[in-house]
Amino acid sequence: MSNPHLSQSDASAAGEQVSADDRELQRTGRDLLFALYASLRVLRIYPLENQTVQNALAELDAVGAQTLATEGGISLRYVGDFVFVNDLRLRIDLGSFATYGAVGRALRQHGIGQLDILPGAGVAEWTAFLALLLAEPDPENPFARFVERLGRTTVSHLVPVPESAADVASDPDDAREAAKRTYAQTVAVAREVMSEMRMGRGVSVRRVKRAVQSIVDQVLTNETSITGMTTLRDYDEYTFTHSVNVCIFSVALGKKLGLNKQQLYDLGLGALLHDVGKVRMPLEVINKQGPLTPDERDLMQEHTVEGLLALFDMRGFAEPPLRPMLGVYEHHIKVDGGGYPRSIRPRNPSLFSRIIAVADGFDAATTKRSYQSTPWLPDRVLKEMRDNPARGMDPLVVKAFISMTGIYPVGSVVILDTYELAVVTAASPDPEAFHLPTVRVIYDSMGTPVEPPLTVDLAHPPAGAPPRTIIKTTDPERYGIHVGDYFV
Ligand SMILES: [Fe+2]
Ligand SMILES: [Fe+2]
Repeated sequence: MSNPHLSQSDASAAGEQVSADDRELQRTGRDLLFALYASLRVLRIYPLENQTVQNALAELDAVGAQTLATEGGISLRYVGDFVFVNDLRLRIDLGSFATYGAVGRALRQHGIGQLDILPGAGVAEWTAFLALLLAEPDPENPFARFVERLGRTTVSHLVPVPESAADVASDPDDAREAAKRTYAQTVAVAREVMSEMRMGRGVSVRRVKRAVQSIVDQVLTNETSITGMTTLRDYDEYTFTHSVNVCIFSVALGKKLGLNKQQLYDLGLGALLHDVGKVRMPLEVINKQGPLTPDERDLMQEHTVEGLLALFDMRGFAEPPLRPMLGVYEHHIKVDGGGYPRSIRPRNPSLFSRIIAVADGFDAATTKRSYQSTPWLPDRVLKEMRDNPARGMDPLVVKAFISMTGIYPVGSVVILDTYELAVVTAASPDPEAFHLPTVRVIYDSMGTPVEPPLTVDLAHPPAGAPPRTIIKTTDPERYGIHVGDYFV
């Protein structure tokens, strides 16, 4: 039992292993919270021009910048009485508890469970953000109102995340709801942005950035639910759901490959907009049934260059978003230099581009589209990307993708050795058990629907039940199954 008289930091000094990086983050995390607390307190008492207020804000900015320099991005999250900085729980002694609790309360009264701080948040943004925190919260819908007010400021490096999305780990139903909401909102943003561009209107990047940030947050906190959403493929909405799926797969891949949060934001932005150039292509070619003529194919290939130009035209970037731009321009270039657009000099596509290419290839091949009536089964697509060099995928990125999805990706319909039919709902977290995901059994061996479907973790069968294994994947259409139905 722990000694109640020891503060938690003493307890850690007494024996727990804490890495030097974590210790540093513990310190800067506490400094940051304290600076936030101090700024809020003086802002409550004095007018903005007051020197005490200015000093406190300058201190806050300096501490923030110091943490950002080592971490790349900060996410401050409150879960119950705990405070996490970039998923490290801060050890807080009792004496400081009131201080940290006050910051948590200020955020929570606006429905904010997490605050993401990106490089570039300066004194002006902090001032605007804290002023809004001190404003009266909306009694009905505090978070939505806060975001709306924030949208009228120039704040773009301080990103509030609603409590529900920040605190979903415990309840699977909440997790699925949060994922569903984020998915639907992002599809809506993709639809709006693309239709505005098609009409030749200037598009502001702010909404797109917010959507990407919420996808990144969901991938970081709720990966299984949000990747499950990629199975909700809607034939009529292909262009938009495809963009969102490629964004989710890319961000999940980036996470797997160790990218930091800022890099994930950039990657997600490039991925969400990877086909944005298609809005400048004639609709009759995009929606054409049957194969394209060589001329039409040449025209369609222009979507990479058009996409790059479209990003130049977007409003609201402090400077051109070079890494997302490269992703948009290069996502059809193969690792051997083939594909398109053709380069005069041989070039290797950037890591972002290679990630987007894998995410794009997987989603496009597994989805039913107007000109591709038979989608491939997900496991066949993985094998093809891995084993056929002509596809031009980066083998390492494909390997990471397979280790992320398992060999039977979420959404695969499989036949078990018991002759039951099941849908894969989650990859096994155990790399040794790739072939044993969690499934939902929907038909028994006689072909009778199982109501409600039975969820089984194939790697850990329930006591007394026979161990089940997967014999093969099958085509959901043969059974009239809409895979997405098992994820809503
Ligand atoms: Fe494309
Ligand atoms: Fe695409």
